[in-house]
Amino acid sequence: MKVLILGSGGREHALAWAASRSPRVTEVVCAPGNGGIGQVARCVPVDMKDVAAMLRLAEAEQPSLTIVGPELPLSLGVVDAFRERGYRIFGPTRDAAQLESSKAFAKQFMKRHQIPTANYAVCTTGKEVEESIKHFHAPVVVKADGLAAGKGVIICPTRQFAIDAAHGLFSGELLGVAEKQVVIEEFLEGEEVSFLCLSDGTHVVPLVPAQDHKRIGEGDTGPNTGGMGVYSTSDMLEPTMTEWILHHIAEPTVRGMAEEGAPFVGVLYCGLMMTARGPQLLEYNARFGDPETQAILLRLESDLVDALEACIDGSLAETEMRWSQGAAACVVASSSGYPGSYKTGLPITGLSLAAQIPGVEVFHSGTTRVGSQLVTSGGRVLGVTAEGDSLEEALSRAYEALAQIHFEGMYYRHDIGHRALKQPRR
Ligand code: AMP
Ligand code: GLY
Repeated sequence: MKVLILGSGGREHALAWAASRSPRVTEVVCAPGNGGIGQVARCVPVDMKDVAAMLRLAEAEQPSLTIVGPELPLSLGVVDAFRERGYRIFGPTRDAAQLESSKAFAKQFMKRHQIPTANYAVCTTGKEVEESIKHFHAPVVVKADGLAAGKGVIICPTRQFAIDAAHGLFSGELLGVAEKQVVIEEFLEGEEVSFLCLSDGTHVVPLVPAQDHKRIGEGDTGPNTGGMGVYSTSDMLEPTMTEWILHHIAEPTVRGMAEEGAPFVGVLYCGLMMTARGPQLLEYNARFGDPETQAILLRLESDLVDALEACIDGSLAETEMRWSQGAAACVVASSSGYPGSYKTGLPITGLSLAAQIPGVEVFHSGTTRVGSQLVTSGGRVLGVTAEGDSLEEALSRAYEALAQIHFEGMYYRHDIGHRALKQPRR
């Protein structure tokens, strides 16, 4: 089998790594890939905004299976286009991907199907925001409707702040594009859990859960990022809680999408807040998480490609996924300045020493190769990932590996997994 992976980050490196371990796979191609993905896949250029170019690539490569990493090509209909031409592709259609690409659609869908979520209002004008905001207490959350790469959610300390934020979204001042709709939402408190499932359009199979660390600073301070680290353990959720989330959130979603004529095939990522009144759904993503995937796939003992093909074939109910009973953690090394501006092109050293530590895989997010030298090319540079029998072991391996790696201004959080550990690491 030849597998084509679309995307260029740490998630895609982990997908390429897992696909390359399948005995059925003879070649992995990644488009556009990055400096590290080149170790497990042949990288070829393509523009993630250009569905026609991705189709031309499929015509040239004739992959047996294509796996879509990021949300943008899903929202542009890459799955619809590939399916029309008879290419097997893993991911939701454009209509099904609306669960992620429109927050207004997602919230209205949750309401139609009684899926527990924060109270909300969808507004199309500043005047509507001023009216609706009277029904919310501060703090209150204002969200852009469309894809915003993590920058579309504003936690507002006062109602006036929320009104101003909504104006900034409508005018285009905040995100560079003018939003037609915004969502005003009740602020929820609790622990966040990334609950990812596979779906074949009818059945749902959960992956192991994970917890992301979105803020740049230790102790969860400072601005939001794409994710600075993640961990996954076998005891993160009680089995009864997993069942509850499946019955009240994931399964009704898949059933609802099928009833509405847009069956969801792919990864359904439920971003949950574990509140005092039970799990509430903050958002859907229609794809694998980054960096969740790096830690989750390190715990996967069965064949990833078999499971993804079962989704395409509608045979997920007969597919078993096996997971390690231990733990995995991924610590992201970022460029100095991220999530603001940062330098690129800085040489990276120590990767081969890091890779020798047992249980460690270094997945690359923003690296490129210049001659024989790997250099930085993004804000998030590496996802240093390790598995272990316990979370302590996984984390100590990841941090030991990080200690071997160097690039100018390298930054990482020292407290990944701190909420789960009884003894802080330092
Ligand atoms: P989203 O893009 O909807 O996942 O939001 C990004 C992040 O904003 C989430 O991971 C949460 O940390 C935070 N967030 C979103 N909605 C809420 C909410 N209703 N209450 C509290 N925090 C939220
Ligand atoms: N780690 C959060 C995301 O992938 O959206």
